[in-house]
Amino acid sequence: MEELVARIKQDGTVLGDDILKVDSFLTHQVDPKLMRQIGRVFAAKFADAGITKVVTIEASGNVPAAYVAEALDVPMIFAKKAKNVTMTDELLTADVYSFTKKITSTVQISRKFLLETDKVLVIDDFLANGQAALGLIKILHEAGAQVAGIGIVIEKSFQTGRGLVEETGIPVFSLARIAGFDAGEVVFAEADL
Ligand code: G4P
Ligand code: NA
Ligand code: NA
Repeated sequence: MEELVARIKQDGTVLGDDILKVDSFLTHQVDPKLMRQIGRVFAAKFADAGITKVVTIEASGNVPAAYVAEALDVPMIFAKKAKNVTMTDELLTADVYSFTKKITSTVQISRKFLLETDKVLVIDDFLANGQAALGLIKILHEAGAQVAGIGIVIEKSFQTGRGLVEETGIPVFSLARIAGFDAGEVVFAEADL
């Protein structure tokens, strides 16, 4: 997605060896115009796939996921990282290890929101080591739902996530793919969409 790549070149900053900071348009401040375009690109790709729900993990996955769900005119569900007092229904859970934070967190979705007849598009802002996506896939399979694809805004192709997700047989579509960082500059690989 050309507009996204241009925006990363313009406003993204490289932190250390492996982190891209995009807090001015995606992960903290949000650019609705760019998000609307992201929603439309994924919606066009999956227009004929019979998607019934979009699923992500809070927090920053919620932003692109909501725009994709809006564009497909289906509900969006975000897996929650903390259990709260209102979550009295049966929960489907997965343990997700974060290589960045070095902690395992349990993410959960109420079973009542997922049906065996659901065909789900998973959306996330970043694909790094793939643990978040794999956790969501586990939850969705436990619900008996079908996972039609994983849509990623920014994939760091030099990390393990894409390979791990593709091993499940679920196709991955990334709007921007980063091959690596070179002297503080982003080196892009060819994107999927
Ligand atoms: P994984 O899910 O692919 O295994 O990712 P990992 O544990 O390595 O990353 C943990 C968190 O850091 C995730 O957000 C992920 O979206 C984010 N992240 C990974 N790489 C980058 C990067 O290069 N830049 C930015 N800005 N974020 C990155 P999270 O823990 O779910 O937190 P949040 O959504 O609440 O912020
Ligand atoms: Na994040
Ligand atoms: Na995320």
